[in-house]
Amino acid sequence: MSTTRNTDAIKVGVAGIGAIGRAVCRVLLSETGIDGYVLHRVSDVKSVPDVPVPNVDFETLAKECDLIAECLPAAQVPPLADAAFAHGRDLILISSAALLLYPEILEKQKGSGSRIYVPSGALAGLDGVKAMREMGIERALIASIKPPKGFEGAPYIIEQNIDLGAIKDKTLIFSGNALDASKAFPANVNVAATLSLAGIGPQDTQVEVWADPAAKGNTHEIKVSTRFSTLNARIENMPDPANPKSSVLAAQSIVAMLRDMSRAVVIG
Ligand SMILES: NC(=O)c1ccc[n+]([C@@H]2O[C@H](COP(=O)([O-])OP(=O)(O)OC[C@H]3O[C@@H](n4cnc5c(N)ncnc54)[C@H](O)[C@@H]3O)[C@@H](O)[C@H]2O)c1
Repeated sequence: MSTTRNTDAIKVGVAGIGAIGRAVCRVLLSETGIDGYVLHRVSDVKSVPDVPVPNVDFETLAKECDLIAECLPAAQVPPLADAAFAHGRDLILISSAALLLYPEILEKQKGSGSRIYVPSGALAGLDGVKAMREMGIERALIASIKPPKGFEGAPYIIEQNIDLGAIKDKTLIFSGNALDASKAFPANVNVAATLSLAGIGPQDTQVEVWADPAAKGNTHEIKVSTRFSTLNARIENMPDPANPKSSVLAAQSIVAMLRDMSRAVVIG
């Protein structure tokens, strides 16, 4: 088992053992594992008997692990980041909306020696966006389309008193910039936050959120343009059976990032 396979391996701590964190643990614990990385500790408020490493608090996680993979609700990211920065640990951050919602995270990171890595999550096309940023992005738009029940509990749905059950056709339920979208749908629009961080920032990245009863999964379409290139990318993700607000792809983007960190040749 990879928990004991290599004592020189980088010790990974996974914070949040829900749909995404559990999937990352499964890969780290699998027979093949992730070369150079070992699951060392996890942190979840619930007990996680299926993950055979100690379940510890954020402080212990940061103290005892070399690298932290965050898979928490966005609201729990600030205390985890505090602990990681206090110990100079790098942080893989899947809840990218937290960087927009809690800008103090980036302030506190300064001088800590910690790096933050944001994986592509449920999105595709960020490789192109990063290169286009160097050319000067003129426009960045993301449209996210999900079944109405995927938005249950979002602050915007509650504040606007939107009856998700009454939506019978594909409906635009939100249009605004990535900052406002993150406040409105903190658990749904990490993709918009990630696009904005890779591209032209949260104020200038346009976001559309669509509820579609006919949608079988979560679709994200991005349109990014510069003077010389136009990018149109669309990804269709089936909802994660463990959490319909998430996509299986998001967990695998963390795994892919960990694999890249140990590769001699990195593509993209
Ligand atoms: N970047 C992306 O494209 C993308 C895509 C999907 C999901 N996400 C985000 O990833 C994050 C995780 O998603 P998920 O589907 O695994 O969520 P989940 O709800 O299935 O799991 C979250 C876990 O965190 C645990 N938790 C809550 N508070 C905690 C605390 N204080 N300390 C320790 N553990 C705590 C919960 O018990 C739960 O097990 C969410 O913020 C989600 O919005 C990002």
